[in-house]
Amino acid sequence: MQQLSVIILAAGQGKRMVSDLPKVLHLLGGRPLLTHVLSAASGLEAAICVVVYGHGGETVKSTFVGESSILWVEQAEQLGTGHAVAQALPLLDDAGVTLVLYGDVPLIQSETLRPLVDTARQNQLALLTVQLADPSGYGRIVRSDQGRVQRIVEEKDATPSERCLSEGNTGILAVSTAKLRSWVAELTNENAQGEYYLTDVIALAVRDGVSVQPFTVVEPLEVQGVNDRRQLAELERYYQQQQAENLMRSGATLLDPNRVDVRGILRTGKDVVIDVNVVFEGTVRLGDRVKIGPFCVLKDAVIGDDVEILSHCRIEGAEIGPGAHIGPFARLRPETRLAAGVHIGNFVETKKTDIGYGSKVNHLTYLGDAEIGSGVNVGAGTITCNYDGANKHKTIIEDDAFIGSNSSLVAPVRIGQGATIGAGSSVSRDVPDGSLCLIRAPRKEVANWQRPVKPKKP
Ligand code: UD1
Ligand code: CA
Repeated sequence: MQQLSVIILAAGQGKRMVSDLPKVLHLLGGRPLLTHVLSAASGLEAAICVVVYGHGGETVKSTFVGESSILWVEQAEQLGTGHAVAQALPLLDDAGVTLVLYGDVPLIQSETLRPLVDTARQNQLALLTVQLADPSGYGRIVRSDQGRVQRIVEEKDATPSERCLSEGNTGILAVSTAKLRSWVAELTNENAQGEYYLTDVIALAVRDGVSVQPFTVVEPLEVQGVNDRRQLAELERYYQQQQAENLMRSGATLLDPNRVDVRGILRTGKDVVIDVNVVFEGTVRLGDRVKIGPFCVLKDAVIGDDVEILSHCRIEGAEIGPGAHIGPFARLRPETRLAAGVHIGNFVETKKTDIGYGSKVNHLTYLGDAEIGSGVNVGAGTITCNYDGANKHKTIIEDDAFIGSNSSLVAPVRIGQGATIGAGSSVSRDVPDGSLCLIRAPRKEVANWQRPVKPKKP
């Protein structure tokens, strides 16, 4: 099979974004526009991906360091889409086929592109077109009376009757690399914009008797480019709607599909219920029957079966065991690991902390750099004093210990198995197994106490 090369055009300035960030680095669904295009290309098993960059190229390149499958080519001056393709061609082998994509057309799907690539492998030119109620701004597809594609005319070069054509050029095409090379070499810039138009290769293909196969995309938003932030927002909404539909198809209940955002990858088990205004970032996995209350943010987290997360929680870099109960208003920070059946209540913050089976931390607590056994009860207002101003230290609480409310555990410290800490204690030395540790100033009581009185001003 002829190998596939993909050229991604991304040299345009993106002035209408009014941004210091290169356009293709703006985020859609939490990932750069260019990442979406690259993933469509990788879905086609492209052998080579050449990104033609211009404006802000160094920033774009540095975002993708380590992606060895991408080749970068600079187009110093933006002389048109044909000129941009010409910059990439020297890197490509004549034996294969080439697909042209756009760094600012993020929602294109591999499934839409596959038939184009197959067509190019049969020595035809495949062109993706779109039917539009308002085609203004697009190049128009000019067909013969028999319906065969003849050429593309750019809007600025079109006659009034050509402007009435409703079939627009998406810009996406696939063809043999050798042919593309010979046609691109023939392009001139004698047109209204003084640019080398890639679109002119269509007429050259027709001239050379190469058949031009048009494919019409079903969903216009799939080929819509991002030129400004309004279009970015429009595509974001469409993308999120699709994520929501995928979630529902895989067995999740969304109380409002318009109020859930997936900015990364979310895998859900069966009978998951997600309330409104929940945001997922990075890679998140939800087990079966997980329930998530309103206004939660989950980032890079693994949530076990039957976990219930009440409203207003932020959970990041955490692993939560089956049947755990979290929130409302809990903050689980990176390297939090909760075993099965753990309860975390309101205004509890955890970081780098393991909590064992069935332990409860129900109110107003900070646990950092801690190792907590099973069956432990951590009372309200408990703080692990893990930081001495220079270093972090560890707190260990063994199985079945009971930490009274408002205790400070000054790390490094170990609370032994079954030990009890009296409320209000500040514990800075290890507590033996099974003992009671109570550190509290003795009470002083004076009967009929007279408070001092302020002398009256004269
Ligand atoms: C282009 C097509 C038009 C099509 C439209 C779809 C041409 C001549 N016209 O028009 O038929 O309907 O896209 O949106 O191809 N780019 C470069 N280098 C350049 C010029 C452009 O990399 O020198 C990149 C841009 O970054 C952008 C893409 O190519 O991603 C399209 O460029 P743009 O200027 O938006 O083309 P249009 O004039 O809209
Ligand atoms: Ca455009």
